[in-house]
Amino acid sequence: MKKDLLKLLDLTREDIEKILNVGDQMKYNQKHGLPHNYLQGKTLAMIFEKNSTRTRVSFEAGMYQLGGHPIFLSGKESQIGRGEPIEDTARVLSRYCDGIMIRTFAQEEVEQLAQYADIPVINGLTDFAHPCQVLADLMTIRERMTRLEGLKLCFIGDGNNMANSLIVGGLKCGMEVSVACPEGYDPDQRVLDFAQSKGCAKNFSLVRTPEEAARQADVVITDVWASMGQEEEAQKRRAAFAGFQVSDALMRLANPGAMVQHCLPAHRGEEITAEVFEAHAQEIFDEAENRLHAQKAVMYLLMNGGEG
Ligand code: CP
Ligand code: NVA
Repeated sequence: MKKDLLKLLDLTREDIEKILNVGDQMKYNQKHGLPHNYLQGKTLAMIFEKNSTRTRVSFEAGMYQLGGHPIFLSGKESQIGRGEPIEDTARVLSRYCDGIMIRTFAQEEVEQLAQYADIPVINGLTDFAHPCQVLADLMTIRERMTRLEGLKLCFIGDGNNMANSLIVGGLKCGMEVSVACPEGYDPDQRVLDFAQSKGCAKNFSLVRTPEEAARQADVVITDVWASMGQEEEAQKRRAAFAGFQVSDALMRLANPGAMVQHCLPAHRGEEITAEVFEAHAQEIFDEAENRLHAQKAVMYLLMNGGEG
């Protein structure tokens, strides 16, 4: 494994499988009350420049369960908010802590933080990627379906951080991935280049109608139409994404027993109907829970000297 978890493009299939396996083990340990305080005496700095419920609480609780200590740093209240360069923050935190989790806007900021930090950096969401969420999604799909290889995953909606990470994570794990986005809202070009590269292209399609993507899917995934930082575009996006909704009618095109995943928060009546959300609530909240277990695996693997 590399020093950091910045985006799934940096991971091999073996790295992803190792994280999922350790995540399953973390979940087992916790459910059975088995001790797993592998990060005793270690500290994780958590920088948040955007809102969060799941990411903050799952990292904070996870660090505590591993015997370590999390420190919450709000972008606004720390010196980062007053313009201290990220490369200086990286070097300072490296003197105090054993790992850094960061949620921010530009992927480049996270990459720069990692370049200057001597300690592991974990991406807790950027505009480009949400790797921890997709590791939890893959863990949940594998848990329910017993495998990933050969399953069809479809993503309906905005070609955002979730779409980017799902495409890469799904393809790396041998899934078929179909993404339906309205024109002008495609996934990032670096991700499309990966998806269209040798070995992946046969398993990938980018289509313009949700129906094409959902047909015979085993997993149907969606996310908000306006991500954090795009609040001012919300109205324009509501018009652009009309019809890109996970509804009962769309689910009827998927395979019987198909799963639904949503990273949350969800906007019922926009990207997903209340009916579909409630019918699949169990697997959606399993997905939220698995953030905890998958991230404990990531922290253990990265902050424990890479020993699995
Ligand atoms: N899914 C997710 O990352 O949730 P939060 O924004 O609440 O952290
Ligand atoms: N695409 C969403 C994901 C939230 C977890 C956002 O970036 O706001």
